[in-house]
Amino acid sequence: MPNIVIVGALFGDEGKGKIVDILTENADYVARFQGGHNAGHTVEIGSEQFILHLIPSGILRENAVAVIGNGVVIDPAALLKEIELLENQKIKVAGRLIVSTHAHVIFPYHQLLDELREDKKGSKKIGTTKRGIGPAYADKVARTGIRMIDLMNKSIFREKLQHNLEEKNTILKSVYNVSPLSVDKLFNEYCEYAERLSQYVKNVPLILNEAILKGKNVLFEGAQGTMLDVDFGTYPYVTSSNPTAGGACIGTGVAPSCIDEVIGVTKAYSTRVGEGPFPTEFFGDFAEWFRQEAKEYGATTGRPRRCGWFDAVLMRYSVLINRLDSIAITKLDVLDGLKTIKICTAYKYKGTTIEAFPGDAEVITQCEPIYEELSGWQTPTSHIRSYEELPKKAKAYIQRLLDLTGVRLKILSVGPKREETIILDA
Ligand code: GDP
Ligand code: IMO
Ligand code: MG
Repeated sequence: MPNIVIVGALFGDEGKGKIVDILTENADYVARFQGGHNAGHTVEIGSEQFILHLIPSGILRENAVAVIGNGVVIDPAALLKEIELLENQKIKVAGRLIVSTHAHVIFPYHQLLDELREDKKGSKKIGTTKRGIGPAYADKVARTGIRMIDLMNKSIFREKLQHNLEEKNTILKSVYNVSPLSVDKLFNEYCEYAERLSQYVKNVPLILNEAILKGKNVLFEGAQGTMLDVDFGTYPYVTSSNPTAGGACIGTGVAPSCIDEVIGVTKAYSTRVGEGPFPTEFFGDFAEWFRQEAKEYGATTGRPRRCGWFDAVLMRYSVLINRLDSIAITKLDVLDGLKTIKICTAYKYKGTTIEAFPGDAEVITQCEPIYEELSGWQTPTSHIRSYEELPKKAKAYIQRLLDLTGVRLKILSVGPKREETIILDA
């Protein structure tokens, strides 16, 4: 298999976990390159459901080594809990997981600041997962972050922690009137995590590049989605990393020349969790009915996801930014019962029609979608295993999505389970 990057094409939760699990059958390494435990990737195998937050979904198949790259921010307590949960579900993690020495560590002050900042923003909040992701990336860029390798050296770790806490405690006290955190308590807690995680901490760029040179392949598992990218998404309503294809290189130390293929994952409709512009969003009774039918509740926070029609404007942008070779469309089955289905083909903005993503969140908020309406197929699709057997109207809907976005279809998912998948070209 070539080296493939899997990205969320839009607002996250597109079904990346399921698609990564399918492709891991032929993968040697599966690497997460950004985000943290804000992600929730669901994989259903038989009657079991797995929700991965930090560990790549590829861990579920024995043939693959799971890698957490330098671009990921790690809450050690969350990672240890995930390892334990997986082992309870009979998934072997020891000896199959590698964590980058250079990945940055999330501390309780990051999580606290995430929460306090959100609460202070009131109606202007971002709607973060409150996992401390943004503040941890902020420290990384400010060059005050603490990396996994630092945790492994007690004197370096203590010095950095002490320095950070002096500043964080001042902010906590003076801006938010919150009690200071104890250096000793945090130091002891994190030294214990370090001891338990040390077996996994390795030189990821070296391991991955040597593997690639030997002809092994890497599947890069994106978290979040293109519209949540800190540079290319609906800023400031974004996450704090780069979920787009370029992030795979920066977040693992594998060069662009090693990437053979990029696949974007999208639902057959759209969802967004958290605040920020969402032009095709449903409202009212239909929104509530659809959410329940589609089971659109967050895999990490359990929050109700906002749902809407497929947006070809955003998808064209995603194809461009990620240079998608192909897409995987998931949750087609959710649309099975609908009489008619809409697709947003362009936006109306101040009387003019725009077909390209306007970039600015303020402008998008004022855009009105222009819809094309297609008739639904109103028949189940979850049992179908070949594209040809799909109802004619389902094929017409998919073809229209592809024509409007100029991209090829590689995988079609018609249910959450592994077998509920149609692969168009192997
Ligand atoms: P991710 O974050 O991109 O991995 O996606 P999530 O796991 O957060 O959300 C996707 C949800 O859709 C999960 O509950 C999956 O089990 C489910 N899912 C994935 N593909 C399909 C599909 O084709 N049909 C249905 N009905 N559910 C799906
Ligand atoms: P997966 O990998 C959907 C959203 C949050 C919020 C914004 C910033 O499962 O697709 P953060 O906690 O990252 O600072 O929150 O990003 N968000 C996600 N939305 N799927 C995710 O991950 C997300 N991770 C973060 O809801 O709007
Ligand atoms: Mg998710």
